[in-house]
Amino acid sequence: MHKITLIQPDDWHLHVRNGAILNTVIAHTAQQFGRAIIMPNLNPLILTVDQALDYRAEILNALPSGSNFNPLMTLYLTKALSAEEIKKAANAEHIHAVKLYPAGATTNSDSGVSDLKGIYPILKMMEEVDLPLLIHGEVTHQESDIFDREKEFVDSSLTDIVNNFPNLRIVVEHVTTKEAVDFVLAASDKVAATITPQHLLFNRNAILAGGIRPHHYCLPIIKREHHRLALVEAATSGNPKFFLGTDSAPHLTGDKESSCGCAGCYSAYGALELYAEAFEAVDALDKLEGFASFFGADFYQLPRNTRSITLQKQPWEVPASYPVAGHTITPLKANEILNWKLLLN
Ligand code: NCD
Ligand code: ZN
Repeated sequence: MHKITLIQPDDWHLHVRNGAILNTVIAHTAQQFGRAIIMPNLNPLILTVDQALDYRAEILNALPSGSNFNPLMTLYLTKALSAEEIKKAANAEHIHAVKLYPAGATTNSDSGVSDLKGIYPILKMMEEVDLPLLIHGEVTHQESDIFDREKEFVDSSLTDIVNNFPNLRIVVEHVTTKEAVDFVLAASDKVAATITPQHLLFNRNAILAGGIRPHHYCLPIIKREHHRLALVEAATSGNPKFFLGTDSAPHLTGDKESSCGCAGCYSAYGALELYAEAFEAVDALDKLEGFASFFGADFYQLPRNTRSITLQKQPWEVPASYPVAGHTITPLKANEILNWKLLLN
């Protein structure tokens, strides 16, 4: 097969930052996707509807002219989120979810939640107004092994949240383990998950074997091969609980190539090509459209897109870096060959 045409996909988990980075990365996303769920772990954090709408205006302003890209905004959950703000968010056209970061789990999560039970009244209200909860599912105790943090969160906190709020729509973001996949499969249709390209393409050798590769370091950290296989099976199964969320998380090259490098892979430049690679490897390109273009929109109760995009089998080399105001961002698979290319209209 040399070409595949899909209804235009959406990205259900995306970091675009602000300022100079936003200006570079938003054009990449807008080339590929109709919409994206924009993560609120900005500096300063996006805590209120008004802040989210200001941030949305900044994103729209950074778009190339003529773009129809629609940023879908989220709020950052802290214990201070009020019932009034939740109702306001549920009624706001451009706000689609609230993101829960356990405090200390990842980039800009220090103001996240340290006492999960303490936010149960907030989750109750979100369940009542049917505002989805997006979860970064990792425990944060420093004594917990980094490769076990997702499984431990699933067994403890996630199970408890799902049991206590059976009608709350929940997306377990960027699942990385077989245990998380199995949990989502066993849960009701209120519980879904996003899967990133890096977790479909790589196992942990890609970070550590033959040298430390900081551009493969993201959170939750990439796991063993049997987890990768479980993720590939879920993504290509046609089960609508699993949909595309790149977790594209740009950082300046120098911040990643450092003695204490930060977490996040930059994939927005070629997200669909990366997913196509992963689906083709198991002969499942026919399952890409559901995963990329239908299931997320259905879960968020938004209309599916109507225009289409085409990917063509055409090898090309990923650039070594993208320039950002005197600095660079190093993309996932820099200098490597990708076999699919999005045809631009
Ligand atoms: C994300 C970031 O840099 O904002 N990093 C990452 O490794 N995925 C945060 C996140 O989603 O965990
Ligand atoms: Zn993320």
